[in-house]
Amino acid sequence: MEILIIGKTGQLGSLLIKDALAWGHKVFAPSRQELDITNMDDFLDIMKTYKPEIVINTAAFHNVPLCEVEPIKAFHLNCLAVKKMAEISQDYNSWFVSFSTDYVFGGEKRTPYKESDIPNPLQIYGLSKLAGEYAALSYENSIIIRTCGLYGMQGASSKGGNFVDNRIKDSKQNKKIEISNDQTVSPTYSGDLSIAVLQLIAHPSKKKGIYHLVNEGYCTWYEFTKEIFKLTGINREVIPVDRKGKTGDMRRPLFSALKNENARKIGIVLPNWKEGLHDYIEKKYVEGYNENCYR
Ligand SMILES: NC(=O)c1ccc[n+]([C@@H]2O[C@H](COP(=O)([O-])OP(=O)(O)OC[C@H]3O[C@@H](n4cnc5c(N)ncnc54)[C@H](OP(=O)(O)O)[C@@H]3O)[C@@H](O)[C@H]2O)c1
Repeated sequence: MEILIIGKTGQLGSLLIKDALAWGHKVFAPSRQELDITNMDDFLDIMKTYKPEIVINTAAFHNVPLCEVEPIKAFHLNCLAVKKMAEISQDYNSWFVSFSTDYVFGGEKRTPYKESDIPNPLQIYGLSKLAGEYAALSYENSIIIRTCGLYGMQGASSKGGNFVDNRIKDSKQNKKIEISNDQTVSPTYSGDLSIAVLQLIAHPSKKKGIYHLVNEGYCTWYEFTKEIFKLTGINREVIPVDRKGKTGDMRRPLFSALKNENARKIGIVLPNWKEGLHDYIEKKYVEGYNENCYR
């Protein structure tokens, strides 16, 4: 297949490109200078030139506290740009795949959210992503993939790295390590997500709609940190704290684990979060990942 992948420097985009090439797909992955998703002329030109079968958009504004301060930018990238790309993709008969978040949910449940559960976003980020979901799904051949707590080789540039790498860095500094035990999530290794995305787009029964794709199971960020330290042999005390899901006035869902119900129905299954973390740590910290490694 010919695939346009947007967000080539990102945690997910960078691995998707490597995996898609390894699967034999033809990939076009423009830099941000070549394609800024807030400039639809760029996108239209690329669609005219390459006419890809599939467009995969991993670009977003997803620094959650910053979205509160810059709501217009959040809606521009996470909703309006997504809407235009879905519309143009439909005009070119291409599938359009874009990513959303566990933060579309309010955290009232105590069992993992299914695709059919009713969203209830608590902050601008979740609202802008939910608006982007509705906007994309008003066009044919749009697929929204909701994921959660993503970490990948590159580290999210907009968030200053990723949770796993940042906790390992913290352990080397002489400071108390206090981690929230109030939020339950499904932390997801972008390498596992990338494979699941490729399985989904190649699947003959794929259809327009929402798919949850996360590493199976769930834990709090405190429990996740304990597991990171266990797997890396770091012997540091981790102090659980209860922030009641709040950062200042901004609210986060207390429970936002996801259930991959629609993907599982067509045989797409991701590893458990502990296996995903183990795999990531082996590749990055034991084998020593670098840019030239396959994954
Ligand atoms: N990270 C998480 O914990 C998490 C959780 C749930 C859902 N998600 C969703 O999953 C998706 C992928 O996340 P990620 O962690 O892989 O993101 P990421 O690492 O921050 O990568 C985002 C990519 O988008 C690019 N980008 C940003 N603004 C752009 C623009 N205006 N035009 C073109 N490209 C632009 C970035 O380029 P630069 O390098 O130039 O900035 C980067 O390549 C996003 O939709 C996100 O909302 C993420």
